Amino acid sequence: MAFFKKKQAGEAEIDLSRLPKHIGIIMDGNGRWAKKRGLPRTAGHAAGAETFRSVAYYCRDLGIPYLTVYAFSTENWKRPEEEVSAIMDLLRKYLLEALEKMQKDGFRIRFLGDITALPEELRDLCLETVEVGNQVDAKYQINVCLNYGGRDEIIRAAKAWAKDVAEGRVLAEDLTEEAFSRYLDSRGIPDPDLIIRPSGELRLSNFLPWQGAYSEFYFTDELWPDFDAKVLDKALVSYQSRQRRFGGV
Ligand code: IPE
Ligand code: IPE
Ligand code: MG
Repeated sequence: MAFFKKKQAGEAEIDLSRLPKHIGIIMDGNGRWAKKRGLPRTAGHAAGAETFRSVAYYCRDLGIPYLTVYAFSTENWKRPEEEVSAIMDLLRKYLLEALEKMQKDGFRIRFLGDITALPEELRDLCLETVEVGNQVDAKYQINVCLNYGGRDEIIRAAKAWAKDVAEGRVLAEDLTEEAFSRYLDSRGIPDPDLIIRPSGELRLSNFLPWQGAYSEFYFTDELWPDFDAKVLDKALVSYQSRQRRFGGV
Protein backbone atom coordinates (compact mmCIF):
# COMPACT_ATOMS: atom_id res chain seq x y z
CA MET A 1 0.00 0.00 0.00
CA ALA A 2 1.28 3.43 -0.89
CA PHE A 3 1.10 6.45 1.40
CA PHE A 4 1.03 9.65 -0.55
CA LYS A 5 2.09 12.99 0.78
CA LYS A 6 -0.67 15.53 0.14
CA LYS A 7 0.34 17.90 -2.61
CA GLN A 8 -1.26 20.82 -4.36
CA ALA A 9 -3.20 20.03 -7.51
CA GLY A 10 -0.98 19.42 -10.49
CA GLU A 11 2.09 18.44 -8.50
CA ALA A 12 3.44 14.93 -8.53
CA GLU A 13 3.00 13.03 -5.31
CA ILE A 14 5.63 11.51 -3.11
CA ASP A 15 5.05 7.93 -2.06
CA LEU A 16 5.95 7.98 1.62
CA SER A 17 6.31 4.20 1.64
CA ARG A 18 9.14 4.34 -0.91
CA LEU A 19 11.38 7.06 0.42
CA PRO A 20 15.15 6.77 0.16
CA LYS A 21 16.71 5.56 3.40
CA HIS A 22 19.72 7.76 2.91
CA ILE A 23 20.08 11.08 1.12
CA GLY A 24 23.42 12.80 0.48
CA ILE A 25 23.56 16.52 -0.27
CA ILE A 26 26.47 18.56 -1.64
CA MET A 27 25.58 21.93 -0.13
CA ASP A 28 26.99 24.10 -2.91
CA GLY A 29 26.39 27.63 -4.16
CA ASN A 30 26.67 29.75 -1.01
CA GLY A 31 29.31 32.03 -2.51
CA ARG A 32 27.33 32.71 -5.70
CA TRP A 33 24.18 33.35 -3.68
CA ALA A 34 26.01 36.04 -1.70
CA LYS A 35 27.66 37.53 -4.80
CA LYS A 36 24.28 37.95 -6.49
CA ARG A 37 23.23 40.08 -3.54
CA GLY A 38 26.45 42.07 -3.27
CA LEU A 39 27.21 40.39 0.06
CA PRO A 40 30.47 38.82 1.27
CA ARG A 41 30.79 35.06 0.66
CA THR A 42 30.59 34.49 4.41
CA ALA A 43 26.99 35.79 4.35
CA GLY A 44 26.25 33.02 1.86
CA HIS A 45 27.64 30.45 4.25
CA ALA A 46 25.50 31.82 7.07
CA ALA A 47 22.39 31.60 4.85
CA GLY A 48 23.39 28.10 3.75
CA ALA A 49 23.69 26.97 7.35
CA GLU A 50 20.09 28.06 7.98
CA THR A 51 19.02 26.07 4.93
CA PHE A 52 20.84 23.07 6.34
CA ARG A 53 18.85 23.29 9.55
CA SER A 54 15.47 23.47 7.82
CA VAL A 55 16.25 20.73 5.28
CA ALA A 56 17.58 18.48 8.07
CA TYR A 57 14.33 18.83 10.02
CA TYR A 58 12.28 18.31 6.88
CA CYS A 59 14.04 15.01 6.16
CA ARG A 60 13.52 13.93 9.76
CA ASP A 61 9.82 14.76 9.56
CA LEU A 62 9.44 12.82 6.31
CA GLY A 63 10.94 9.80 8.06
CA ILE A 64 14.23 9.50 6.17
CA PRO A 65 16.65 7.72 8.52
CA TYR A 66 19.99 9.10 7.21
CA LEU A 67 21.04 12.47 5.82
CA THR A 68 24.67 13.09 4.85
CA VAL A 69 25.76 16.64 4.07
CA TYR A 70 28.99 17.86 2.55
CA ALA A 71 30.00 20.80 4.73
CA PHE A 72 33.76 21.20 4.17
CA SER A 73 36.02 19.27 1.81
CA THR A 74 39.70 18.38 2.08
CA GLU A 75 40.12 20.78 -0.87
CA ASN A 76 38.30 23.70 0.79
CA TRP A 77 41.43 24.60 2.82
CA LYS A 78 42.60 26.33 -0.39
CA ARG A 79 40.14 29.16 0.32
CA PRO A 80 41.11 32.45 1.98
CA GLU A 81 41.76 32.02 5.68
CA GLU A 82 39.00 34.45 6.56
CA GLU A 83 36.42 32.36 4.70
CA VAL A 84 37.67 29.10 6.22
CA SER A 85 37.50 30.49 9.73
CA ALA A 86 33.98 31.89 9.13
CA ILE A 87 32.88 28.39 8.08
CA MET A 88 34.50 26.86 11.18
CA ASP A 89 32.69 29.42 13.37
CA LEU A 90 29.37 28.50 11.78
CA LEU A 91 30.02 24.81 12.32
CA ARG A 92 30.74 25.52 15.96
CA LYS A 93 27.51 27.49 16.33
CA TYR A 94 25.32 24.81 14.73
CA LEU A 95 26.97 21.95 16.59
CA LEU A 96 26.39 23.70 19.90
CA GLU A 97 22.74 24.10 18.94
CA ALA A 98 22.53 20.45 17.88
CA LEU A 99 24.08 19.31 21.16
CA GLU A 100 21.27 21.05 22.98
CA LYS A 101 18.48 19.73 20.74
CA MET A 102 19.50 16.17 19.87
CA GLN A 103 17.79 14.50 22.77
CA LYS A 104 14.54 16.45 22.51
CA ASP A 105 14.35 16.35 18.72
CA GLY A 106 15.43 12.72 18.40
CA PHE A 107 18.49 12.81 16.16
CA ARG A 108 22.17 12.06 16.38
CA ILE A 109 25.16 13.35 14.48
CA ARG A 110 28.22 11.60 13.12
CA PHE A 111 31.18 12.95 11.18
CA LEU A 112 32.81 11.68 8.03
CA GLY A 113 36.26 13.03 7.29
CA ASP A 114 39.52 13.53 9.11
CA ILE A 115 38.48 15.61 12.10
CA THR A 116 41.97 15.33 13.66
CA ALA A 117 43.06 18.19 11.35
CA LEU A 118 40.39 20.60 12.62
CA PRO A 119 41.02 23.41 15.11
CA GLU A 120 41.22 21.75 18.53
CA GLU A 121 38.11 23.35 19.98
CA LEU A 122 35.97 22.30 17.02
CA ARG A 123 37.42 18.79 17.03
CA ASP A 124 36.57 18.40 20.73
CA LEU A 125 33.07 19.66 20.03
CA CYS A 126 32.68 17.03 17.28
CA LEU A 127 33.76 14.29 19.68
CA GLU A 128 31.34 15.54 22.33
CA THR A 129 28.52 15.69 19.77
CA VAL A 130 29.12 12.06 18.79
CA GLU A 131 29.27 10.99 22.43
CA VAL A 132 26.03 12.74 23.37
CA GLY A 133 24.39 11.48 20.17
CA ASN A 134 25.28 7.91 21.08
CA GLN A 135 23.05 8.25 24.15
CA VAL A 136 20.06 9.28 22.04
CA ASP A 137 17.63 6.61 20.95
CA ALA A 138 17.39 8.23 17.53
CA LYS A 139 15.55 7.17 14.38
CA TYR A 140 17.35 9.86 12.45
CA GLN A 141 21.06 10.34 11.88
CA ILE A 142 22.81 13.28 10.29
CA ASN A 143 26.31 12.67 8.96
CA VAL A 144 28.36 15.81 8.53
CA CYS A 145 31.26 15.57 6.09
CA LEU A 146 33.90 17.75 7.61
CA ASN A 147 37.43 17.92 6.22
CA TYR A 148 36.06 15.13 4.06
CA GLY A 149 37.40 13.87 0.75
CA GLY A 150 36.39 10.51 -0.67
CA ARG A 151 39.92 9.73 -1.81
CA ASP A 152 41.35 10.72 1.56
CA GLU A 153 38.79 8.49 3.27
CA ILE A 154 39.79 5.52 1.09
CA ILE A 155 43.51 6.12 1.70
CA ARG A 156 42.99 6.34 5.48
CA ALA A 157 40.94 3.14 5.34
CA ALA A 158 43.63 1.39 3.27
CA LYS A 159 46.30 2.39 5.78
CA ALA A 160 44.25 1.11 8.72
CA TRP A 161 43.62 -2.16 6.88
CA ALA A 162 47.33 -2.53 5.97
CA LYS A 163 48.21 -2.05 9.63
CA ASP A 164 45.77 -4.79 10.62
CA VAL A 165 47.37 -7.08 8.02
CA ALA A 166 50.90 -6.24 9.14
CA GLU A 167 50.02 -6.88 12.78
CA GLY A 168 48.30 -10.17 11.99
CA ARG A 169 44.71 -9.23 12.85
CA VAL A 170 43.35 -9.94 9.37
CA LEU A 171 44.49 -11.85 6.30
CA ALA A 172 45.00 -9.93 3.07
CA GLU A 173 43.28 -12.62 1.04
CA ASP A 174 40.12 -12.26 3.15
CA LEU A 175 39.52 -8.69 2.00
CA THR A 176 36.08 -8.15 0.49
CA GLU A 177 34.13 -5.01 -0.40
CA GLU A 178 32.07 -5.51 2.71
CA ALA A 179 35.16 -5.98 4.93
CA PHE A 180 36.83 -2.88 3.46
CA SER A 181 33.68 -0.80 3.99
CA ARG A 182 34.16 -1.32 7.70
CA TYR A 183 37.39 0.71 7.54
CA LEU A 184 35.64 3.70 5.98
CA ASP A 185 34.29 6.64 8.00
CA SER A 186 30.82 5.57 6.86
CA ARG A 187 30.99 2.18 8.59
CA GLY A 188 27.54 1.07 9.71
CA ILE A 189 25.74 3.56 7.48
CA PRO A 190 23.86 2.23 4.42
CA ASP A 191 25.00 3.61 1.05
CA PRO A 192 23.17 6.75 -0.08
CA ASP A 193 20.18 6.01 -2.32
CA LEU A 194 20.01 9.55 -3.62
CA ILE A 195 22.71 12.21 -3.96
CA ILE A 196 21.59 15.79 -4.59
CA ARG A 197 23.76 18.62 -5.83
CA PRO A 198 22.31 22.11 -6.13
CA SER A 199 24.03 25.13 -7.75
CA GLY A 200 24.14 23.79 -11.31
CA GLU A 201 27.52 22.05 -11.03
CA LEU A 202 27.51 18.57 -12.51
CA ARG A 203 30.25 16.88 -10.51
CA LEU A 204 30.87 14.97 -7.30
CA SER A 205 33.85 17.00 -6.03
CA ASN A 206 35.15 14.02 -4.03
CA PHE A 207 31.81 13.32 -2.25
CA LEU A 208 31.23 9.65 -1.31
CA PRO A 209 32.86 8.05 -4.39
CA TRP A 210 32.85 4.58 -2.79
CA GLN A 211 29.43 4.76 -1.15
CA GLY A 212 27.80 6.46 -4.15
CA ALA A 213 28.74 3.71 -6.62
CA TYR A 214 25.04 2.89 -7.19
CA SER A 215 23.36 6.06 -5.97
CA GLU A 216 20.80 7.95 -8.01
CA PHE A 217 21.81 11.55 -8.75
CA TYR A 218 19.72 14.69 -8.81
CA PHE A 219 21.26 17.93 -10.04
CA THR A 220 19.40 21.22 -9.78
CA ASP A 221 20.21 24.88 -10.47
CA GLU A 222 19.01 26.41 -7.19
CA LEU A 223 21.84 27.73 -5.06
CA TRP A 224 22.01 26.02 -1.67
CA PRO A 225 20.66 28.98 0.39
CA ASP A 226 17.58 28.96 -1.90
CA PHE A 227 17.06 25.21 -1.54
CA ASP A 228 13.87 24.30 0.32
CA ALA A 229 11.27 21.58 0.93
CA LYS A 230 9.80 22.10 -2.56
CA VAL A 231 13.11 21.39 -4.25
CA LEU A 232 13.61 18.35 -2.08
CA ASP A 233 10.11 17.14 -2.99
CA LYS A 234 11.03 17.44 -6.68
CA ALA A 235 14.19 15.42 -6.11
CA LEU A 236 12.13 12.75 -4.34
CA VAL A 237 9.57 12.60 -7.13
CA SER A 238 12.38 12.21 -9.65
CA TYR A 239 14.02 9.52 -7.51
CA GLN A 240 10.76 7.59 -7.26
CA SER A 241 10.26 7.70 -11.02
CA ARG A 242 13.48 5.77 -11.63
CA GLN A 243 14.10 2.10 -11.86
CA ARG A 244 17.21 1.02 -9.97
CA ARG A 245 18.73 -2.08 -11.47
CA PHE A 246 22.08 -2.51 -9.69
CA GLY A 247 23.44 -4.24 -12.76
CA GLY A 248 20.48 -6.61 -13.14
CA VAL A 249 17.77 -6.53 -15.79
C1 IPE B 1 29.49 25.58 -0.67
O1 IPE B 1 29.32 26.81 -1.28
C2 IPE B 1 30.05 25.69 0.72
C3 IPE B 1 31.41 25.16 0.87
C4 IPE B 1 32.12 24.63 -0.10
C5 IPE B 1 32.01 25.24 2.19
P1 IPE B 1 30.50 27.51 -2.06
O2 IPE B 1 31.26 28.38 -1.11
O3 IPE B 1 31.33 26.52 -2.78
O4 IPE B 1 29.70 28.40 -3.06
P2 IPE B 1 30.07 28.71 -4.58
O5 IPE B 1 30.21 27.38 -5.26
O6 IPE B 1 31.36 29.48 -4.56
O7 IPE B 1 28.92 29.50 -5.08
C1 IPE C 1 31.99 20.87 -2.76
O1 IPE C 1 31.82 22.15 -3.21
C2 IPE C 1 32.30 20.88 -1.29
C3 IPE C 1 31.22 21.29 -0.41
C4 IPE C 1 30.02 21.63 -0.79
C5 IPE C 1 31.55 21.31 0.98
P1 IPE C 1 33.01 22.99 -3.86
O2 IPE C 1 32.45 24.32 -4.21
O3 IPE C 1 34.19 22.99 -2.95
O4 IPE C 1 33.38 22.14 -5.15
P2 IPE C 1 33.98 22.60 -6.53
O5 IPE C 1 35.21 23.41 -6.22
O6 IPE C 1 32.95 23.40 -7.24
O7 IPE C 1 34.28 21.33 -7.24
MG1 MG D 1 31.17 25.71 -4.64
